[in-house]
Amino acid sequence: MSQDRLFPVEPADLEETPRLEHLVDRKGLAELVGSLAQMSGVSIRLFNTEGTLLADGSLDSPLLRRLEGVPAARAALSREIVQIKRIDPAGRAERCSSLTGAFYQVIAVDYDHRRMGRAIVGPFLEHPPSQVPPGLAALAPDLPLDLLASLPLLPPERVASLEAHLRSSLDLILFAGHKSLLTSQMHLASISANYRELQDRNARLQQAYDRLRELDRLKSNFLATVSHELRTPLTSIIGYSEMLTEGIAGSLTEEQHEFIQTIHEKGEQLLQLIKNLLDLTKLESGTLSVQRAPTPIEPVLRQVVSTFLPAARKKGVVLELILPPDLPPVLGDGERLRQVFLNLTENALKFTPVSGLIRLSATLVSAEDPEDDDGFALLAPSAEQLEVRVADSGIGIPEAERSKVFDAFYQVDSSSTREVGGTGLGLSIVKRIVDAHEGSVCIEANQPRGAVFVVRLPLASP
Ligand SMILES: Nc1ncnc2c1ncn2[C@@H]1O[C@H](COP(=O)(O)OP(=O)(O)OP(=O)(O)O)[C@@H](O)[C@H]1O
Ligand SMILES: [Mg+2]
Repeated sequence: MSQDRLFPVEPADLEETPRLEHLVDRKGLAELVGSLAQMSGVSIRLFNTEGTLLADGSLDSPLLRRLEGVPAARAALSREIVQIKRIDPAGRAERCSSLTGAFYQVIAVDYDHRRMGRAIVGPFLEHPPSQVPPGLAALAPDLPLDLLASLPLLPPERVASLEAHLRSSLDLILFAGHKSLLTSQMHLASISANYRELQDRNARLQQAYDRLRELDRLKSNFLATVSHELRTPLTSIIGYSEMLTEGIAGSLTEEQHEFIQTIHEKGEQLLQLIKNLLDLTKLESGTLSVQRAPTPIEPVLRQVVSTFLPAARKKGVVLELILPPDLPPVLGDGERLRQVFLNLTENALKFTPVSGLIRLSATLVSAEDPEDDDGFALLAPSAEQLEVRVADSGIGIPEAERSKVFDAFYQVDSSSTREVGGTGLGLSIVKRIVDAHEGSVCIEANQPRGAVFVVRLPLASP
């Protein structure tokens, strides 16, 4: 079924008068026709315009049963029935006679000025029979007159009242059927209209989304190209300033030395920023590869702590590492994980004032599924993960900001962060690397103050 024809109803369908069998419930129709036949004692059958039998109110007839067993009579009666079924009354009804001397009344079933089908009432007699008709006697000799007299006797006024009764009952159920069909078709048509509107909106959203993705891709490409092109001249600036401070181009005055030192420091900062930008664009485009292998976390964390120990001492901040023995290795890329904890520790040091405390610690935890709150997790063996916490006693991160700080370039308080420097890229890189490891990172509050970054990583052999 095609998308734009999900519902089978079109407005044009509503204008057509449907077929008899679509308007009425077959079972209800059979009950109506059956009970009228029982009440009047005469067989009634209802056909649609194509001659398909829709309701059969045939009564048992000893005469017809007997004639069934006489081949010549049976063939003649069958031909007769075929012809009667073909009659399409020009007016409201048409009467025809049978070779048994009985009659059939063919009643037109019309609704909304359209022919919907016909009802055939009969066979019935108008008068008690005085003899077996000669035509029938020739086909079925020795037919007793009593058997003929067993046909129902229906004087013309009773036929007329039966016809009126049948007509009014059919009118009523056809009207009720048409009404409910129209209601349901209109309902479907309105759902169909709503559905199409939703589809249109969806298509527009998809277009906007595709456009944004394309722009995002162009932005990443642009950042990658610019960062790459900036790196080459910057490397020269750093290299030459280094050579100058080392006195390779001749001795410098103290002031010159200080200036060149500043050029060198700022150049290094700029290089770090460019490296971060490159990493971010590579992580975004998925081109930065993460080589995952069993990696012990202890050397990674020790290296991070030793990198920042001098700076922490200088600032008057205690930096400590607490590790339990025999931690199993994680499934990760040592270099990328070092980048994660370097960024987190750098932040902790940046946002922790004098005489503060920064603690890196690692433990094994069971990987709980936060979705699973029906207690099933208690029964299933839970996988273990390695949890690394980077806790500081600094300014902390308000709860409302905790999900935003992982966005690229986002900084909580730009005025205070400007004081301490940085571009707001560190945490977005952390988040992308941790995601590439199928791990998780979140922020908690430290007591009595400060922030705790909690990183969870899968073990090499869970
Ligand atoms: N330990 C922390 N304590 C308090 N605030 C923090 C901490 N870590 C991060 N933040 C907040 O989150 C922001 C984003 O951190 P992120 O590391 O991404 O950027 P940055 O440190 O400002 O710059 P960059 O890392 O690119 O040099 C920070 O500017 C700061 O507002
Ligand atoms: Mg940072």
